[in-house]
Amino acid sequence: MKKDPIIVALTGASGLQYGLRLVRVLAEQSEPVIFMMSPHARLVFEKEMDLELPPQETPEFLESLFSKEIAERIELVRYRDVSAKSASGTFKTRGMIICPTSMNTLAEVANGISSNLISRSADVTLKEGRKLLIVPRETPFSAIHLENMLKLSRLGVTVLPANPGFYHKPKNINDLIDFVVGKILDSFDVNHNLYKPWGSDEEFVEELQTQKNYR
Ligand SMILES: Cc1cc2nc3c(=O)[nH]c(=O)nc-3n(C[C@H](O)[C@H](O)[C@H](O)COP(=O)(O)O)c2cc1C
Repeated sequence: MKKDPIIVALTGASGLQYGLRLVRVLAEQSEPVIFMMSPHARLVFEKEMDLELPPQETPEFLESLFSKEIAERIELVRYRDVSAKSASGTFKTRGMIICPTSMNTLAEVANGISSNLISRSADVTLKEGRKLLIVPRETPFSAIHLENMLKLSRLGVTVLPANPGFYHKPKNINDLIDFVVGKILDSFDVNHNLYKPWGSDEEFVEELQTQKNYR
């Protein structure tokens, strides 16, 4: 039987690499993905990654972000299209991941604003009691940001900040990204080998416990 899709939205916060890697791994694992992106995410792609994206309406759009093979597995939906399937609760999904989540989108979702497909899909995910996971990216957080996160957390939303651990001994930026993406996938019960679970690298655990290198 065909699996219900997972919605993945990218918003205009720093660290779009997390979202790109997430979509790639989901597609590689043959998980159906509905993909959407805010106009501000496009701006962040330009400013942060020097990536000029073609218009979303063109066939080249997805292939400017992913390989052809991955692009073919993803269903792209447009930010302004509030008539898309995911805008209705009658369309079944396994939930939604907003990665990264800007403070703007966080505020919209926390306050039931649904003026675009990202906030509408999140609103639908919430009202249908499905899994919603946000990856907020800002530092420091203001009391408004924290209150919005607390509100969503109390509604059952998983608040998983772009906040990688270091106990898996990252060697490069990709390892840091994979840690966060692995945690997101764990939350959706998607298998991966993006990081080693704590305790599986005995040598490192021993080293930490004896505090040899941390005095
Ligand atoms: C290069 C760049 C980086 C940004 N980084 C962040 C960020 O990390 N967190 C955040 O909340 N907003 C960030 N912003 C601001 C958001 O893009 C802006 O508030 C926008 O309105 C978010 O819109 P969206 O939620 O529709 O994507 C950044 C903007 C730019 C241009």
